[in-house]
This record gives sequence, structure tokens and C-alpha cells, in this order.
Amino acid sequence: MDYDVSVIGLGRVGLPLAISFADRGLRVLGIDNDAERTGALRDGRMPFAETGMQELLDRVGPIDVSDRAADAAQAQQIVITLGTPSFSHIEIDLSQIRAVLDDLLGHLQPGHALTLRSTIAPGTTDFVAGYLEKHRGFDIGRDVFVAHAPERIAAGRFLDEIGTLPCIVGGVGERSGQVVGELFSVFGAPIVQTTPVQAELAKIWTNILRYTMFALPNLLMMDCEQYDANVFEVIDLINKDYPRGGMPQPGFTAGTCLRKDFAFSEERSRAPGMLLAVSRVNESVPLFLVQGMIRRMGPLKGRKVAVLGLAFKAGTDDERDSLSHKLIRLLERELADVAVHDPHVSTPTQSFEDAVIDADAVVLATNHAEFCGPSGLRRIADGARNQALVVDPWDCFGAGQVFAFADEISAVTARP
Ligand SMILES: NC(=O)c1ccc[n+]([C@@H]2O[C@H](COP(=O)([O-])OP(=O)(O)OC[C@H]3O[C@@H](n4cnc5c(N)ncnc54)[C@H](O)[C@@H]3O)[C@@H](O)[C@H]2O)c1
Repeated sequence: MDYDVSVIGLGRVGLPLAISFADRGLRVLGIDNDAERTGALRDGRMPFAETGMQELLDRVGPIDVSDRAADAAQAQQIVITLGTPSFSHIEIDLSQIRAVLDDLLGHLQPGHALTLRSTIAPGTTDFVAGYLEKHRGFDIGRDVFVAHAPERIAAGRFLDEIGTLPCIVGGVGERSGQVVGELFSVFGAPIVQTTPVQAELAKIWTNILRYTMFALPNLLMMDCEQYDANVFEVIDLINKDYPRGGMPQPGFTAGTCLRKDFAFSEERSRAPGMLLAVSRVNESVPLFLVQGMIRRMGPLKGRKVAVLGLAFKAGTDDERDSLSHKLIRLLERELADVAVHDPHVSTPTQSFEDAVIDADAVVLATNHAEFCGPSGLRRIADGARNQALVVDPWDCFGAGQVFAFADEISAVTARP
């Protein structure tokens, strides 16, 4: 075999993994059908930001790439890191995985191991094993190996966590778990063997837990508006010196994982609706903010609103499934004049100063470090109108107000 491992899908999950395998001395083939992505890699360039990854790529040198999934069979170990979106009617979209399986089918031989690293609905690993068995007659777990080894690393933390986070492996049949566990043992983190469906459930419920936890302060924020209460003060009352507290802070809760992974439980749920409600709460935060602005400012038609942050979370350049886009669409539907600034994303945006100058309102959509603290507030106060409304669901400025007028919070945060 020409390679030790092939990684199919060089996205936010697959590419850092491929480079890290190369860093551990494995011969790696990366596969992606996006010409821009493979072109960047041929030039030794990361196509997106991931902490420390460009430096690692510079060190290990360009990895071999191909745009043909069938080439993956040149390695005994094949890792699938393709996208697994959800259809809008709540059902996993397996089309990327199905397409690659069909390309690979005729090229698989005894000894090949297929790892599903993508996030998948319960039962998908067994489906893939069954597909190979049905179409090629393999005895899975004896002559070809199939396992789920879910990615649980947060964006921006890959190099911190790949060597420490327990690596869950759910293998099909007798030896799949062992064979795939050996591949991932190069990273030195504990390998935790389980069944395929338990690995699938563990991954999606890791994300459901976070998605649900963040929905609670978001709902509380809306409750507080209704009762004219301050959400940050209520959260402080819940948590402070109380051993069973732990309410998180409100904010925009989405991103390519949290926004859809709940659907992989919801599609076959015995209690349908519960997680949909969680999603609806998080999804309604942008509308809640727009309505709160209208209550305080009157109609937004022709008013300048600066949106700070397009990325789905602080410090990343990933704007996929970010609620900032939804916020902007809602503001545009109110006929507001929207200006946008984000120092991280590749989408061109205005400078901070141009975005906030003469703004009637400024919304902190992403809590990037650059925006936070008294200096961020000062830059807003310098540029925006005196009576500009500052909307800060993250409490970036420490003023403890979701909605406040700039001069009001400047006075609060100026206090010693
Ligand atoms: N992004 C994250 O932080 C994260 C974290 C944990 C788990 N996950 C899961 O990992 C999986 C991958 O996520 P991602 O964010 O890296 O996705 P992505 O969309 O960034 O990457 C998928 C890649 O696969 C490529 N691709 C699609 N079809 C192909 C084909 N037929 N042949 C070759 N390449 C093809 C695409 O061009 C893309 O580069 C998903 O299941 C996701 O839910 C993502």
C-alpha cells in the first residue's frame, strides 16, 4: 500500500486530522472534491483557520491530495470526515457518505478499515457495514472493518485536544474496534471501546447537552424581558455560592454542529418536539433582539444598525450556521441600514470604525475578544450616535445589560 491512512473530506474535521496523522509519521492521502481546498493544500496553505495548524502543516510539508474517493483504497485505513447535514424536515442527509461509499465499493479489499469520523444518526455505522456486506459480501469485523470514532474536538482546539480527549470507538463485529483503535492510538489519548450505536449516541448527546444547556439562559433572557428583570442579575442569583447552580450565560447558540446534531435524535424520538423546542428557543434569539430594539427605538426603517461579528463563535473564522446571518436578514426585513464588521471571517466586511460610525444601534453578535471589555465599548461610544442602543446578549462589556444606551453603559463600566 502506498499510504497508511486516507482521509476523505478535508474540512474543518478532516484536514486537521490528516495533518496530525502526518505529524505522527503516517503516510497520508487526503481526498476532497473541492478544487479550491485541494489547490490550497497543494500550495501548503490552510484553507481556513485552526489554531497552530498552518505551522504544523509547514513543518510536516504538503500532504498528498486527490479528488477521487476511490483513491482512498490506496491505504488500509480509510477515515471518512464528510459533511452530514440535516434536511430541514429533520432527517440526516447521508448523501455525501452514500456517494463516497459507492465510489469506494469496487476498490475495497480484505484488510481495509473504514472509520466514520463524521457525526451520524444512531444506526448509521451498522447501515454502512450492512451496505458493504450486501454489495461485496464482506464479513465485517473479520475481513473488512467498520467503526465509528466520533470527532468531539471543538473548533480552534484541535491540537490541544487530539492527544488528550478520550477517543470513543464503536466497532462492528469481532475486530473492527481493535483495528480502528490502533490507528487512533498514535495520538496517545485513551481509546474507549464501545458499541457503534453507543458511540453514535455519545457524540450526538454530547452536543445535545450543550445545545439544551444554552437554550435555558436564552429562554430566561426572554422571560426577563417580559418581567422587566435583568437576566445577568438573575443568573448571578442562581449561581452565586450555590453548589447546584451552573446556569450558563445567554448568547447566539448555533454553528454547524449544534444547529443540526439534535435532529439525529429528533428524527426517531419517542418524545418528538422536546429538542425541536430547544432549537426553536435558540433560533428565536435574533428575533428577540430585533423586537427588543424596536421596542426601545421605534421602527428600524432607515436607521443604521452595526452588527459586530459574523462567525458562529468567538475567535473562529467559521461563519457557517451562524445566527449573525439570521440577525442581518431580520434587520434587513425591518428596512434597517445594516453595517457589518468581523475581523476573523474571510467574507469581506467593513472596518470596525466604518461599521459603527453614526450607528443608531450596535449589536454584539459574536463575542470576539477584540470587541470585549471597556476598550470595545469606548470604540463604539466614539463612533456611534450619543444615544445609540447597544445590544449585548453576551455581556461582552461587563455592563450586565442586554439592551442599554451607549452613554448609560459607558457610565456603568467606567465605575471603579
Ligand atoms: N466542524 C466541526 O467543528 C465538527 C466537530 C465535530 C464533528 N463534526 C462533524 O464532522 C463532519 C465533517 O464536518 P466538517 O465541518 O469538517 O465538514 P466540511 O463540510 O467542512 O467538510 C466536508 C468536506 O468533504 C468534502 N466532500 C464532500 N463530498 C465529497 C466527495 N464526494 N468526495 C470528496 N470530498 C467530498 C467537502 O468538499 C468538504 O471539504 C460532520 O459530520 C460534522 O457534523 C464537525
